[in-house]
Amino acid sequence: MKATARAPANIAFIKYWGKADDALRLPLNPSLSMNVSGAYTVTTVDFSPNYTKDNVSLLNGKFSDEEAARVIRVLDQMRTKVGRNERVRVATQNTFPKGIGSAASASGFAALTVAGFAALEVAPSERELTIFARQGSGSACRSIPDGFVVWRRGYISEESYAYSLYPHTHWDIRDILVIVDSTMKKVSTTEGMNMVQTSPLLKHRLDVIPARMKRTVDALSKRNFQMLGEVIEEDCLDTHAVMRSQVPSLEYWNTETQSIIYAVRHWRGEGIPVYFTIDAGPNVHLICEGKDESKVLSALKEVGGIESIIVNKVSEGTRIIEDHLF
Ligand code: PMV
Repeated sequence: MKATARAPANIAFIKYWGKADDALRLPLNPSLSMNVSGAYTVTTVDFSPNYTKDNVSLLNGKFSDEEAARVIRVLDQMRTKVGRNERVRVATQNTFPKGIGSAASASGFAALTVAGFAALEVAPSERELTIFARQGSGSACRSIPDGFVVWRRGYISEESYAYSLYPHTHWDIRDILVIVDSTMKKVSTTEGMNMVQTSPLLKHRLDVIPARMKRTVDALSKRNFQMLGEVIEEDCLDTHAVMRSQVPSLEYWNTETQSIIYAVRHWRGEGIPVYFTIDAGPNVHLICEGKDESKVLSALKEVGGIESIIVNKVSEGTRIIEDHLF
């Protein structure tokens, strides 16, 4: 049976950085994100006794051997879980370049999980799907539920799941993704996170995260944009301070990243309510309310070094769709 799912990428307001358990991908801290409407993955999965080997392909790009092996590992776990052994064909397509720090692995493993189980004609709960997706790529669990999503830290696998805090209709927030470098990042998040314990700043971040999570939830519940923006930037700067203070030091920003940060602070001084956040790459996510989108876009016209811009609204979670890729 064949099934196809469409999964959004997500941008973390409170970031996941560091694992308590590598194999299970249990995080060291809870995180909170927004699903984005302009960057998603569509994946078709077909298990069939007619296939003699597993075949996974990325339609608008190419999986490395390592990436293909990671996809097959997830499919093996899926087959084991439901006691099936048919070989599989998987085709997947992203609307954005992979490795740009906009969570291609998140939407990828979310789509694979949801399409995979649907193709096997089993229907786990949303919570179970998030637990499963988490083991492919941590942040993938946050791409399954609707809108604004919390991923619980959890000390055992069954407790580390994601759920929707508010649906995508709750608040008209924009994530204007400013791409300054679309080439593959040098150090993967898996590799980067493996060295997190070498950072002397990690303990401080883990200590303050519970209060930061509370402030973010509070800002979302009150739709208080300044409060939301301040906590988003605080956690972004803190996460990157941890990355930078790891051994070896991890530096994801480039000079364009830095100039956009300065520009954002300047625009705020001029009265435009906009804040920034950055994942494991140099590209900058500008967070604003829908009513301020055009002001931010026209301010961006003055900035050099931009390759492209993706304007994202808040998106629903992962959905089954009828249009198969093959
Ligand atoms: O799940 P991964 O391995 O793609 O890691 C995501 C790490 C960050 O994007 C930097 C933060 C986050 O929470 O999305």
